[in-house]
Amino acid sequence: MHDKILILDFGSQVTQLIARRVREMGVYSEIVPFQSAEAAFRSMNPKAVILSGGPASVLEANAPCAPQAIFEAGLPVLGICYGEQTMCAQLGGAVEAGHHREFGRAFLEIEEDSPLFDGIWARGTRHQVWMSHGDQVLREPTGFEVTASTDTCPIAAFEDRAGHRFGVQFHPEVSHTPDGRTVLMRFLFDEAGLRGDWTSESFIEDSIRDIRARVGEARVLCAVSGGVDSSVVAALMAEALGDQVTCVFVDHGLLRKNEAEQVVRAFTEAFHPNLVAIDARATFFAALAGVTDPEAKRKVIGAEFVRAFEAHADELQGCDFLAQGTLYPDVIESGSPTAAKIKTHHNVGGLPDWMKMTVIEPLKWLFKDEVREIGRKLGLPAEMVEREPFPGPGLAVRILGEVTPERVAIVQEADAIFRDEIRAHDLHPGIWQSYAALLDVRSVGVMGDERTYQHPIVLRAVQSEDAMTAQAFPFDFRFLEHVANRIVNEVKGVNRVLYDLTSKPPATIEWE
Ligand code: XMP
Repeated sequence: MHDKILILDFGSQVTQLIARRVREMGVYSEIVPFQSAEAAFRSMNPKAVILSGGPASVLEANAPCAPQAIFEAGLPVLGICYGEQTMCAQLGGAVEAGHHREFGRAFLEIEEDSPLFDGIWARGTRHQVWMSHGDQVLREPTGFEVTASTDTCPIAAFEDRAGHRFGVQFHPEVSHTPDGRTVLMRFLFDEAGLRGDWTSESFIEDSIRDIRARVGEARVLCAVSGGVDSSVVAALMAEALGDQVTCVFVDHGLLRKNEAEQVVRAFTEAFHPNLVAIDARATFFAALAGVTDPEAKRKVIGAEFVRAFEAHADELQGCDFLAQGTLYPDVIESGSPTAAKIKTHHNVGGLPDWMKMTVIEPLKWLFKDEVREIGRKLGLPAEMVEREPFPGPGLAVRILGEVTPERVAIVQEADAIFRDEIRAHDLHPGIWQSYAALLDVRSVGVMGDERTYQHPIVLRAVQSEDAMTAQAFPFDFRFLEHVANRIVNEVKGVNRVLYDLTSKPPATIEWE
């Protein structure tokens, strides 16, 4: 059993970063919404707890709080921002509405040496941190000592050293707190005594054991798309269950140019012989006819996928489980009790309730870079592991408005040109995702001596670490001009090409 840490989520936009940082240090963590914390705390038996930030105020009636059992258990606790404030209030200290809100960069004045600051921040020195708060601690709980302040926040860190309980008003998990990683490391290793024994090898071993225990003798249908996530799931399933697993690839007609053939070839040759490919293009296009709303598209696609899988499962008989490559960012963005819903990733919230098979999602708590590492350890070919992420609903969320075979063909051609040029110019290594999208507005152009009235293509290429944030790739203008020129000349139905410069947030990576 690995050492585990519970991250109690009060709804901060950066809670998942706490999990990332903690995992990078080899400690297994799970984020649990504060509403279900009591039960999770008891079943998970964590060695330490981190209380996240959040948008609420402890001064409001019925403000979210941590289960008192956490404090009573005598475990090491680190409260961050709102987490610090609720810990303060719950342990008898006082919080006040802030007169000076602090958002962004602030400077922390170290009042006392602290085990959390060991080796980085000595008493009497000043350090950059990142803050985002209105309320602040007015009086620390009895038995606690104040260790840091800022110009407008007299109690920016406090601690009960003997009880290993710490509160910080700043965010150590964000990169704008340059020493934040060390603060977290001190908490995890020096204070909580964790071992840092969570590695990709141990993840593989644990998953295989869990999958075997859960599935027993049953058969599993593994949904594959050729992407990294589902390929890694397929490899894990194969390790765990051998030929109890059948991989099913559904061609919904919404893949990139020539991709369906490539996926089947790569998959069969390189790695998993037990693959069934289903041509469901006609069914998907029929189901999508007239559908223009992005969430509705995802629901239709989710339902059609399941219909195709269940039809195949019936043929196989005794196939009770559907394995799929859901990742942690998909879960976060599809909404939780604490985080806002951004989009229903088709494989999370888009699954219909009439579905009979039980879903298995072994990568549900992981980020993409962790999944790639696990893929490498499982021996998947580099082309598969390094593949650009591609959304399950495919080009449907890159075609604004109705999805028709003709519009898909336009996007496929433009996308192929863009990505060919990226490869030809060797720009691929710095790019997280690149694609062409088709808009549903039309604009006037002139081609030869004729007026045109056609749809624009938007090019999008982003740099990212984990798809939670992203920024536009800084192409050379001449490169973009060249691509635009090729697209309007070679792709029928397009008379204008735009490049999307927006970062995420406020945009998202996909247009829908
Ligand atoms: P956004 O557009 O939310 O995308 O910034 C973040 C990452 O998720 C992918 N994505 C999806 N993947 N089903 C998926 O399997 C979906 O419905 C979906 N929507 C977005 C997107 O390509 C990016 O990598």
